[in-house]
Amino acid sequence: MQSQEKLAREIRSLAAERKAVILAHNYQRGEIQDVADFTGDSLGLSQAAASADAKVIVFCGVHFMAESAAILSPEKTVLLPRLDAGCPMADMITAEGLLKAREENPGVPVVTYVNSSAAVKAVSDICCTSANAVKVTKSTGAKKVFLAPDRNLAQWVAKNTEQEIIWWNGFCPSHERLTVEDVKKARAENPGAPFLAHPECRPEVVNLADEVFSTSGMIRWCKNSTAETVIIGTEEGILHQLKKDSPKKFFVLASQKLFCPNMKLTTLEDVLEALEKMENVVFVKEDVRVRAEKTLRKMIEAGRD
Ligand code: 13P
Ligand code: SF4
Repeated sequence: MQSQEKLAREIRSLAAERKAVILAHNYQRGEIQDVADFTGDSLGLSQAAASADAKVIVFCGVHFMAESAAILSPEKTVLLPRLDAGCPMADMITAEGLLKAREENPGVPVVTYVNSSAAVKAVSDICCTSANAVKVTKSTGAKKVFLAPDRNLAQWVAKNTEQEIIWWNGFCPSHERLTVEDVKKARAENPGAPFLAHPECRPEVVNLADEVFSTSGMIRWCKNSTAETVIIGTEEGILHQLKKDSPKKFFVLASQKLFCPNMKLTTLEDVLEALEKMENVVFVKEDVRVRAEKTLRKMIEAGRD
């Protein structure tokens, strides 16, 4: 077996040869985050995919993220080192299901979380991420808005806008596992430590939070905070960047259950193989791509909350 350092060197050299940029989500394994050109949250990675000066994008994340890159940069080759890295929440909604919901709610704009397929985006009005869901929803100017597919994100938005919010009944199984009891226990063990929650957590968990952020929002907040200990309510991969930024601070995962198996599939060997073979290319049918691109571009224009 090759050492991680040797694999990382080979990846960097082959990426340069192929004019490839490596993007990694904040939940990826530490060694994958370290080999990437850019790490970030879903919004940051979409922005990077749209503006990358490269021929190839190697997307270390899950399928919908690579698909968004392919939608935004059709002239580039987008590789997903593990084609089996999916998102169970994105699989909880189909374009047919959303079209039916639209029929049942005529005239109600649909804001769709990027954690969805290209086909679902293509039948939506605008996309959002956890970093701009409130801003995007307000930007519709509508009295009533339909949010899909995350019911927890929708309820977080409902708390932060005067608009009436209705939603699709999807959720992230990894964040859903975090309970009020887990947070209370973490707080009791770390008195005075702030608790940060991701809006994919259950509403009753979000209600306990001192701050609610996307993953990059949490990273920025922790870097600037004077708190010595912070309780983290999102997937454990984020700890890598948090510890790198603030080696003297203590980060407590609110529960060991905060783990996304799909985000952990990609290894350095997979990244090297994808670059060597130039396989695992993510394609989106052109008619779907064009419609989905409109919804993603509007999201990028909206910026962060
Ligand atoms: P963000 O990094 O955009 O907060 O996304 C969280 C997530 O669950 C991605 O799958
Ligand atoms: Fe999907 Fe949740 Fe995993 Fe993100 S953390 S990829 S929302 S299952």
